[in-house]
Amino acid sequence: MNKITIAIDGYSSTGKSTVAKQIAKVLGYVYVDSGAMYRAVTLYALQNGLISEDDFNKEALVYQLDKVKLSFEFNDVLGYAEVYLDGENIEHDIRTLEVSSYVSKVAAVADVRQKLVAIQKKMGEDKGVVMDGRDIGTVVFPNAELKLFMIASAEKRAERRYAELKERGDDITYEAVLKNVTERDYIDTHREESPLVKAKDAIEIDNSDLTLDEQFDKILQLVKMTVEGLE
Ligand code: CDP
Repeated sequence: MNKITIAIDGYSSTGKSTVAKQIAKVLGYVYVDSGAMYRAVTLYALQNGLISEDDFNKEALVYQLDKVKLSFEFNDVLGYAEVYLDGENIEHDIRTLEVSSYVSKVAAVADVRQKLVAIQKKMGEDKGVVMDGRDIGTVVFPNAELKLFMIASAEKRAERRYAELKERGDDITYEAVLKNVTERDYIDTHREESPLVKAKDAIEIDNSDLTLDEQFDKILQLVKMTVEGLE
C-alpha cells in the first residue's frame, strides 16, 4: 500500500490528536503531535522565568532556543512517541491549563515556529505520518495527500477538554477552560506567522455531533479513498 502524509489541522480541542493516534495505529504510521512541541517550548519558557502573566521576554527565548532540547521516545504501551525536554518526559506537565494559557503567545513567535517546523518536516520525510496541529496542511506539509480541517463548537470543545483535565485530577473550572479555548482560537487565527487557516484542499469535518467511532470511520474511509486514488 502506498504511504501517504496525513495533515490534520483545526481549532483547539477538536479531537485531532485522538483520531490521529487511532489512524496512525491502524495504518502502522507515525503519529506526531506538533502542538506538544509548542507546549514543550512554553514549559521551557515558564521554567526559566521568560513568560508570566504580565511579561514575555521573547528576545531571551529566541536567544536561548538552541538550549531547548526536545526529543521523542516511542512508548510501546501507548503506541506513539512521547515528548521529552532535556531528557525528561514532560507529557503530563505540558497538558496543564497553565501551559495552555501561554502556548499560543509562544507559538506566535516566528523563530520558535521556524525551529519546530524544521523538526516536523524532517519527521515526515519518509511519509507514512499523521501529524496534527495548526499549520500542517498549509506550511509543514503543503503537499500532503490528505488534509483534514476539524471544527466543533467552542462549548463542545471546552466540555471535552474539561472532562480530560478533570479525569487527570486537575483543579479547573469549565469556565476557565472555555475561556482558554476561545482565547487560543483568537490568537491562533490572528497571528502574523502561519495563522490557523483551512488549506484550500482540506476537507472540513465538523465533529460536534459525531461519536469517536463515527469520526474514526469517516476519516479512515477518506484515507482509504485517498490511497486508492493514488494506485
Ligand atoms: O489543546 P489542543 O490539543 O487543541 O492544542 P495543541 O495541538 O496541543 O496546540 C497547542 C497550541 O500550540 C495551539 O493553541 C497553537 O497556539 C500552537 N500550535 C501551533 O501554533 N501550530 C501547530 N502546528 C500546533 C500547535
